[in-house]
Amino acid sequence: MTLIRFDDTYGHTPYQKAFVDGDVYGVGYDAERAARKPLTMGMIGAGGVAQSKYLPAVTRLRTIWEPIQIAAFAEPRADHRDKVAAIYGGRGYADYRVMLAEEALDGVLVLSPDALHREHVLACAEAGLPALVEKPIARSLADAVAMCRAADAAGTLLMTVANKRCSPPYKRARRLIDDGVIGSPSLFSGKFNLGYDYVDLLEAGTIHLFDLTLYLMGTVQRVNAAGMKRDPRGSYPVDNVVLTLDFASGAVGSLITSASALSLKPWERVEVYGDHAWLAVEDQYELTLYAGEREGAQSWRPVVPNTLLFDEEFGGYMGLVENFCQVIRGAESPVVTGWEGCRAYELLTAVHLSLARRTSVELPLADPAAADAEVATWLKRS
Ligand SMILES: NC(=O)c1ccc[n+]([C@@H]2O[C@H](COP(=O)([O-])OP(=O)(O)OC[C@H]3O[C@@H](n4cnc5c(N)ncnc54)[C@H](O)[C@@H]3O)[C@@H](O)[C@H]2O)c1
Repeated sequence: MTLIRFDDTYGHTPYQKAFVDGDVYGVGYDAERAARKPLTMGMIGAGGVAQSKYLPAVTRLRTIWEPIQIAAFAEPRADHRDKVAAIYGGRGYADYRVMLAEEALDGVLVLSPDALHREHVLACAEAGLPALVEKPIARSLADAVAMCRAADAAGTLLMTVANKRCSPPYKRARRLIDDGVIGSPSLFSGKFNLGYDYVDLLEAGTIHLFDLTLYLMGTVQRVNAAGMKRDPRGSYPVDNVVLTLDFASGAVGSLITSASALSLKPWERVEVYGDHAWLAVEDQYELTLYAGEREGAQSWRPVVPNTLLFDEEFGGYMGLVENFCQVIRGAESPVVTGWEGCRAYELLTAVHLSLARRTSVELPLADPAAADAEVATWLKRS
């Protein structure tokens, strides 16, 4: 019988710390982390995601002995600069170019608006600095490719935010698949409710699911999408999309996403079917393994010994930032590369093309600039 072990063998340690070591908050001395090379980071953009996810994630990482500090950040808004400096410290710059020129940094978190990612990542590559850029990697496939090529040419590290890869239930799901626990994945099913339409559904929300699809199932060869617009007030051309996927492995899949329904939970669900076994992750919180008729189902939920559920951790931000640091130190390989962010954006672009053409679209897309132009025309017309 296959069992999901309720200890830390799948990369999660609160059980050991709380119930074996008696360290309920997980803040006790961690010799391995504390001995790592200290890293000094910069941050470009100190708005919503920086303040609500990254700065708390970095603070929590420091609390559990990861030697990292955000010494400087670039943010044109004085109110954001003042608030962030007052709460977290660090030198605030109005202009990121001045920060890159004046600070001695080991890496940069690029948390600026999507449309500025290209400019900021290219500046990091030019300065020879590793960069972790928020999702979506860019707002055009040509930009995404240019960013990855620039980092390759400069020999600098580029990672994209796919924080869900570091969320414990998804990390475990991937590990179960890698370990062959469900056999060979043959069918994928995903759903994502955004529940509001003041951001672009696919670029702001479903991109997370596009990345997870690639993470759990591998390369997509063909996509066929259909969409409709329920609420005419939104500016995005579709607020409900369904798509089918053909994977290079021969597996097939489907994904649905909506911005016109509610965002009440359950709003995110992923299922992977294998050989007489399958697994599901619901709301990035509960992993269920259906390992066989005799075994029945087993569910795993995070151990939360101190009754606090840290979004920094379960949202995957701590894991991602820690991995970025470890890659800079040469101690780990990236959990997600720039090129993988580019592939997620390519899948998004193929979905747009399929919606525009009302036919299936083959991947990879041979001409990124032509694909961007066709998508731009369709977005304008819709
Ligand atoms: N991973 C996730 O789940 C997630 C969640 C939210 C946002 N995001 C992404 O994070 C990024 C930022 O989103 P947000 O919600 O924090 O937006 P935001 O508008 O709240 O913050 C962006 C900040 O960048 C600043 N900025 C603008 N121009 C700049 C420049 N030239 N140099 C430096 N800073 C500049 C803005 O003043 C603002 O404070 C976007 O790419 C977004 O898609 C990801």
